[in-house]
Amino acid sequence: MPRPHSNDPGSVFVFGSVNIDLVCRVNSIARPGETVLSPRYEQLFGGKGANQAVAAARASGEGGRVSFVGAVGSDDLGVAATEQLKAEGIDTDGLQIVSERTGCAFISIDARGENAITVASGANRLPEAAKIDPSVFDKANILVLQMEVPLGESLAAARLMHAAGGRVVVNLAPVPGDLSRDDLTGLVSEADILVVNESELEAASALSEGAGGTVAEKAADLSRRFGLAVIATLGAEGVIVSQMDGTAQTIPALAVEVVDTTGAGDTFVGVLAVALSSGLSEAEAAGRAAVAASLSCRKVGAQTAMPRAEEIEAALAGRP
Ligand code: RIB
Repeated sequence: MPRPHSNDPGSVFVFGSVNIDLVCRVNSIARPGETVLSPRYEQLFGGKGANQAVAAARASGEGGRVSFVGAVGSDDLGVAATEQLKAEGIDTDGLQIVSERTGCAFISIDARGENAITVASGANRLPEAAKIDPSVFDKANILVLQMEVPLGESLAAARLMHAAGGRVVVNLAPVPGDLSRDDLTGLVSEADILVVNESELEAASALSEGAGGTVAEKAADLSRRFGLAVIATLGAEGVIVSQMDGTAQTIPALAVEVVDTTGAGDTFVGVLAVALSSGLSEAEAAGRAAVAASLSCRKVGAQTAMPRAEEIEAALAGRP
């Protein structure tokens, strides 16, 4: 149930990571000990947090509805990433400039559009929730979190958002290698909506010693036990939205020719957040987000391929 919120409705606050993505196209992704060649690399804007903010800003169709706080270095990459976010109409006033270098992601994309990513976190290890201007929480009704910045800072931001009366969307991506059962419990108890892909759902179920079974059964089990909505994204198979009352809906994806899936999950989360902030239900919001995520797979790169509001509307209108 949406919590009552007296503040300006319809604004999204993303707290998370910023990266510069160095992207190589390869026939097949290098295995341990193997070297593969790629003709060239592209330097693109990325980071799950920044990507989600960009997806939200584009889907909102107007400026000023999205704020972003993360951390960048005082290097050229940090300046470029900040300018890019501003150019998308995102409020970056709270961006923190820290002593580490701006985060970088090293991405290989194979011939089927699948990817492998290594992130050098750098500045993403240092954003602090305590430094966020309280007015950012007052303005927003949805906070979006992912897992590329320290968990403790994300939890602190979630508590501040709840104190201000808003809702919290947690995207459990990527699942930290050292995530404990207590960490997961802390995280889901600060979340109103949990967004996971299949492997993240598997990890969450295993860590919390949940019921086995199908994706739908695992999502339903997490929803009931932790009292939150769980949205499981299944790529071309669509999305399952599971509510704590045991109801579940399956929403189809849009069929597209896949070039690169990098950032599809971030597109889903950003578009979901904007739709929720406008008052749509979880299932309605997930329907829009699933279409946007499919559209984002048609080009190389995360932010490069994210659709704008008009493209999402057109795809929704043309959908059988
Ligand atoms: O989700 C895709 C993103 O993951 C990339 O942009 C990369 O920066 C990594 O954070």
